[in-house]
Amino acid sequence: MDTKKIIQSYWDYRSESYNNGVIENSEEGRNAWKAMLLKAVEGKKGLKVLDVGTGPGFLALLFAEMGNEVTAVDLSNNMLEKARRNALKRSLKIDFLQGDAENLQLPDAYFDVVVNKYLLWTLPDPRKALMEWRRVLKDGGKIIAIDGEWNQQSLSGRKKEENYMKIFRKQYEPIKKDLPLFSLKPEYLSKIFKDSGFGTVSITRMEDFCKFEKEKDSLFDKHDSSDPIYFIKAEK
Ligand SMILES: C[S@@+](CC[C@H](N)C(=O)[O-])C[C@H]1O[C@@H](n2cnc3c(N)ncnc32)[C@H](O)[C@@H]1O
Repeated sequence: MDTKKIIQSYWDYRSESYNNGVIENSEEGRNAWKAMLLKAVEGKKGLKVLDVGTGPGFLALLFAEMGNEVTAVDLSNNMLEKARRNALKRSLKIDFLQGDAENLQLPDAYFDVVVNKYLLWTLPDPRKALMEWRRVLKDGGKIIAIDGEWNQQSLSGRKKEENYMKIFRKQYEPIKKDLPLFSLKPEYLSKIFKDSGFGTVSITRMEDFCKFEKEKDSLFDKHDSSDPIYFIKAEK
């Protein structure tokens, strides 16, 4: 099986229990996320937003609740099913599409913002993905990405996740060498953003936010929060 197919089948399987706080997060938790995201888009609403690797729709739902027009793409049909159900629970209209973040079937210069959370680490060709995201962005459009410098120790941290971790290791161990950002390093990430044509790139650690989320036990699905998580912003 090729790498992409392995990834797709893992997330199809993983969708069974993966919700990552989309619906469960408290009002307070969701408001904290929205405040952070609103700041990143300079307080604007009514934007055309693309969430790539949406999973159960975490960012897609937040951006839709904030009054934006949201399209959300994922490789896994099972994840998309879950995301559709989550959007329905919140009475939100989001355009969900099956697709590959590295090869989008979407028009040039259409979106104001491309967002993604916990996707970069699992891309075989992140440069290609960045060029695709740049292609679908309007001039002056923004990328907002959230990802971490994951390490295997913390990945196996949670008891309740043991079964999933077994399958995770079985599927990802043979392919992790093909995933350049499997454990993301900010300097390298900054370089590939620049190589892909982004002028301004900022990468900041989400320390305070992670502390808040850890107290609420809502941000992290499969690891403890000692791994650095980064908030990455870039402009076309
Ligand atoms: C760790 S989950 C994150 C989901 C969601 N963004 C969140 O924060 O809860 C990674 C998601 O990326 C999706 N994915 C992986 N590779 C992809 C690709 N090449 N194109 C689109 N989606 C992809 C997986 O199917 C999975 O739903």
